[in-house]
Amino acid sequence: MFRLISLLIGYFIGCISMGFIVGKLTKTDLRKKGSGNLGTTNALRVLGFRAGLATFLGDILKGVVAFFLCRLIFPDDSLLAGIYAGTGTILGHDFPFYLKFKGGKGIASTIGFVLSLTFVFSPFFGVITIAIGIMGVAFSGFISMGSILFSISIPISAYFLGMPTEAVVIFTALAVLATWLHRANIKRLISGTENKFTLHKNVQ
Ligand code: G3P
Repeated sequence: MFRLISLLIGYFIGCISMGFIVGKLTKTDLRKKGSGNLGTTNALRVLGFRAGLATFLGDILKGVVAFFLCRLIFPDDSLLAGIYAGTGTILGHDFPFYLKFKGGKGIASTIGFVLSLTFVFSPFFGVITIAIGIMGVAFSGFISMGSILFSISIPISAYFLGMPTEAVVIFTALAVLATWLHRANIKRLISGTENKFTLHKNVQ
């Protein structure tokens, strides 16, 4: 039962879309501009650095809050409760019920989730996965490339760091989901038309 409750708590916290809130505050619907994604990269692209940073930090915070809240609620199953809460956060971010289930791609929420696990499970977890993501962006010049590599590195790192099998299975499913949500980016990467990472607004 703690799994379902943690997943639901995470889902509703994840539904608080920072990209949507920042868009409301700036009277811009990010779903209609740039890539149409309600996430950090599109907020950065359409609205600039401050909006991108606010979206990034807010979406990271969701993953952290849901994780630690569910650990507090279910102290006897704290690791798995946190993992189900983090998973729910990503699902809420990606598929918010009040936005016709069209949200973001869940990368910032996943960073919050990974940072939480880094704190309670193993410092190597965050160091390895986030370093892979950052290197992916740095070497390719594309946030989407770093996001995909980061997502795929999570189940692999979890496996080698000895996380419970249930967690590795969940992370594998989340990596498949993140890759699928990046399918348009993958097509653009292959065709050489993906948007390069910049810290400035580059869409009118
Ligand atoms: O985390 C999302 C990023 O990897 C790609 O975003 O807006 O370019 O589709 P976007």
